[in-house]
Amino acid sequence: PARWRTVHLQRAKDEGRRFAMLTAYDAMTAALFDEAGVEVLLVGDSVGNTVLGHPSTLPVTLDEMVLFSTAVVRGATRALVVADLPFGSYEASPQQAVAAGVRLMKEAGVAAVKMEGDERFAEHVAALTAAGVPVMAHIGFTPQSEHVLGGYRVQGRGEGAVERMTASARALEEAGAFAVLMEMVPSDVAAAVDASVRVPTVGIGAGPGTTGQVLVWQDMLGLREGRMPRFVKQYAQLHAVMGDAVRAFRADVLEGSFPAPEHGFEG
Ligand code: KIV
Ligand code: NA
Repeated sequence: PARWRTVHLQRAKDEGRRFAMLTAYDAMTAALFDEAGVEVLLVGDSVGNTVLGHPSTLPVTLDEMVLFSTAVVRGATRALVVADLPFGSYEASPQQAVAAGVRLMKEAGVAAVKMEGDERFAEHVAALTAAGVPVMAHIGFTPQSEHVLGGYRVQGRGEGAVERMTASARALEEAGAFAVLMEMVPSDVAAAVDASVRVPTVGIGAGPGTTGQVLVWQDMLGLREGRMPRFVKQYAQLHAVMGDAVRAFRADVLEGSFPAPEHGFEG
């Protein structure tokens, strides 16, 4: 399609095809990922970590999500742009969720939102969808709830886990969610959930059995060094590439070899 919509993600699942999703927080990377064919761009509240330098996603505000989403929408021509509802912008009521979702669509121009929460948030999903805001539900490990969940840990383990995760996904689908994202869920559980809902699923740390896969771009491209979550595959080492380039620039400046004559103007 010339422009990916939620119906195209549904068609992909119906026809047994997968799709890729990547975070983006600015117009240049959005354009780059869009040109590379990535079907869905997520303006994740991970912007709190990756761009703003916070230790978690919790401090991210709706105003900040609107700003970063605006940039991503400007850079994307083909991908479906989805924005996260940040912590504190939607939980209190379905009405609060609608107000937040409408702002992201109206002011930033995103085509859908993602919202963390299980079946306890089904009414929020229904209200958003009724208002014209498509919702990607996010279950399993939900980072905004890290202090309730006891830290970063795999969800959906143990007895009855498949039944519980499936019931959550089904309730959210029933409420109108166009997709269900699962984070840090055992691969067999995620695959069972994908098989038991009609809508497409997206996984991060959820194995190969979901319809789509998402990663945070700075993790995937190796922009940062240090310990990566188990579910990250690094497709490049941008930290080394950029670090080497910056060191070369600085060395040239200090020894006087940059700028060369061709970088200057004649009078
Ligand atoms: O904020 C984010 O980047 C996300 C994905 C990792 C799923 O929610
Ligand atoms: Na997020």
